[in-house]
Amino acid sequence: MLRRALLGMSRSQGIKNLLTRLPVTSDVVARFVAGETVDQAVAATRQLAGAGLKITIDHLGEDTTSRAQADAVALAYVDLLGRLREAELTGAAEVSVKLSALGQQLPDGEKIALEHAHTICAAAETAGTTVTLDAEDHTTTDSTLSVLRELRRDFPRTGAVLQAYLYRTEGDCRDLAVEGSRVRLCKGAYNEPESVAFTDQHEVDRAYVRCLKILLAGPGYPMLATHDPRLIEIALKLARDNVRPVDSYELQMLYGIRPTEQQRLVNLGHQVRVYLPYGNDWYGYLVRRLAERPANVSFFARSLVSK
Ligand code: FDA
Repeated sequence: MLRRALLGMSRSQGIKNLLTRLPVTSDVVARFVAGETVDQAVAATRQLAGAGLKITIDHLGEDTTSRAQADAVALAYVDLLGRLREAELTGAAEVSVKLSALGQQLPDGEKIALEHAHTICAAAETAGTTVTLDAEDHTTTDSTLSVLRELRRDFPRTGAVLQAYLYRTEGDCRDLAVEGSRVRLCKGAYNEPESVAFTDQHEVDRAYVRCLKILLAGPGYPMLATHDPRLIEIALKLARDNVRPVDSYELQMLYGIRPTEQQRLVNLGHQVRVYLPYGNDWYGYLVRRLAERPANVSFFARSLVSK
């Protein structure tokens, strides 16, 4: 119930306007967001790379409502990629992109988002790194996978995120478990109806394992995004059973969540990538993190009253 209410809030422009005016920038936001500026993102990336972690950077933003805003997001990514190149961090860092931030919801939005994503992929290729397309709510999945197919013609290493909670995802895993394909598998963070997604957490976990089996048995490059200790254990066992070299897949977690475990896995010799968001438009991202863990809500509420 609380999860659904929070996820409903994550799309409310009114609540967003109210909360983002409040001074909650310190503890709560800083736990999950690496900073507001590209300098802060690059500094946090350098620190994680120094500890042996890999990074994927998200310039925060989603549900763009104007062409100008979409253009600005694309430019921000091109700038970020240039900065990562200058800082010699593109061996460790790639970028993650939400197509809704690039204009996917505008009239003729798929075309606009594809053009912008193409520009970002070209900048990533010049910088020597890759792009992964985030997964948003289920109404965007077909469009996002269609943009992925177009991008992979010119940039075959472009990755995509699949959400285990969607009934369709086992099929999408089969389609994408091909040579050269990079697939990030997560549980799914949006408020989806029962008509398209499992809503029981045990069902979601079981679906995640079925998807793991498909991806880890295939010739692609699986990116296993979860903090769930049991699913990580199963993923590593399946990787061993499939005799996969440790550089043929990676584990992924979000910035600020289970950092000790991230480092422990690196120390054991695993590839671990941290999803690192930065920027001012943190509202939707933060509310999804609150919805994942009720304890975060009281942390957030305390920070509102203590300012
Ligand atoms: P689960 O929610 O069961 O958490 C397992 C344990 O992890 C918890 O018991 C707790 O210890 C810890 N934990 C998890 N979330 C926490 C939080 N917010 N705060 C504190 N502790 C927490 N989703 C999506 O729909 N589209 C996308 O593109 C992406 N992209 C993405 C990239 C990466 C790298 C990751 C790791 C995740 C995503 N997600 C996502 C989010 C994903 O769908 C899911 O909502 C979260 O990862 C939480 O699910 P877990 O698999 O971690 O399990």
